[in-house]
Amino acid sequence: MAFDLSSWLPGAQQRVERLLADRMQTIATRTPMRLAEAMRYSLLDGGKRLRPVLCLAFADALGGGGAMADDGACALECIHTYSLIHDDLPSMDDDDLRRGRPTSHKAYGEALAILAGDALLTDAFTVIATGPDAELVTRARMASTLALAAGAGGMVGGQVLDIADDRPAAQDYLMQLHRLKTGALITAACQLGVLAAGGSEAALRAAARYGEDLGLAFQIADDLLDATASAEQLGKPAGADAAAGRFTFPAVVGLEASRRLAAELVERAKQAVQTVEPIAGPLAALADYSVERTR
Ligand code: IPE
Ligand code: IPE
Ligand code: MG
Ligand code: MG
Ligand code: MG
Repeated sequence: MAFDLSSWLPGAQQRVERLLADRMQTIATRTPMRLAEAMRYSLLDGGKRLRPVLCLAFADALGGGGAMADDGACALECIHTYSLIHDDLPSMDDDDLRRGRPTSHKAYGEALAILAGDALLTDAFTVIATGPDAELVTRARMASTLALAAGAGGMVGGQVLDIADDRPAAQDYLMQLHRLKTGALITAACQLGVLAAGGSEAALRAAARYGEDLGLAFQIADDLLDATASAEQLGKPAGADAAAGRFTFPAVVGLEASRRLAAELVERAKQAVQTVEPIAGPLAALADYSVERTR
């Protein structure tokens, strides 16, 4: 029987919710109350949890990754959540709605929103780098993989390409931008699962190829949803890209060509992951989900 994502995904997401609540509780014990509240507000509500779900799915496909996979999953979501808080700031995308609620700076003011983002980013590395001695070499490799993907040569660099005033309306610029701002962290999510499970270098390469294609497809879908869905459906503003005059995929190559490209990338991702998941399961289905999703 074919794998059914709709009956599997809610359980995978609930597993992530429990892990995040647990790690957030630990962080809160050493954090000023107001900061912990702002961190919790953004971290513990409403996300699709794709990055942690990918991390855990890769680990599970390779026999399980235990606490290291769990911590990797949480660290990924902490970094992703920080990136959303900062992305929404008035000096960035200036958005008021996120995950169906007022954005962090609307709820807590700009200063605390920035600091909640800073704290989520930094504590992600406490979570991933802390563990028994026997795990520290693997955890260090996971931490450096995550840092490379999230930092200047990855997500942050991509955000800078995104806000450049002199951006060309060219597809190759857009591909590079999307690969960095969104693809890099999604790729790291896949790699972290492999590392936690002690997978082979070949599995790591397959995870990277899958993550790069899925990540690019995911951001093309994000651009498409911004252009075609409602704010109620998305839990964040719709039509915001066009209103801000951003050169997104639909704006530069059109809706149909964007959909075609995303579909091609998904097929390539599914091929790449066959060595890790010979019988199509969660990983193949998550590739489809990255573009078929409605929010
Ligand atoms: C939104 O990410 C920002 C992008 C990188 C496209 P998600 O679509 O994963 O947002 P949440 O986590 O589900 O809210
Ligand atoms: C943000 O891209 C990507 C990040 C690294 C945060 P967008 O600006 O398109 O994300 P949304 O649409 O606000 O979620
Ligand atoms: Mg943005
Ligand atoms: Mg944005
Ligand atoms: Mg967007």
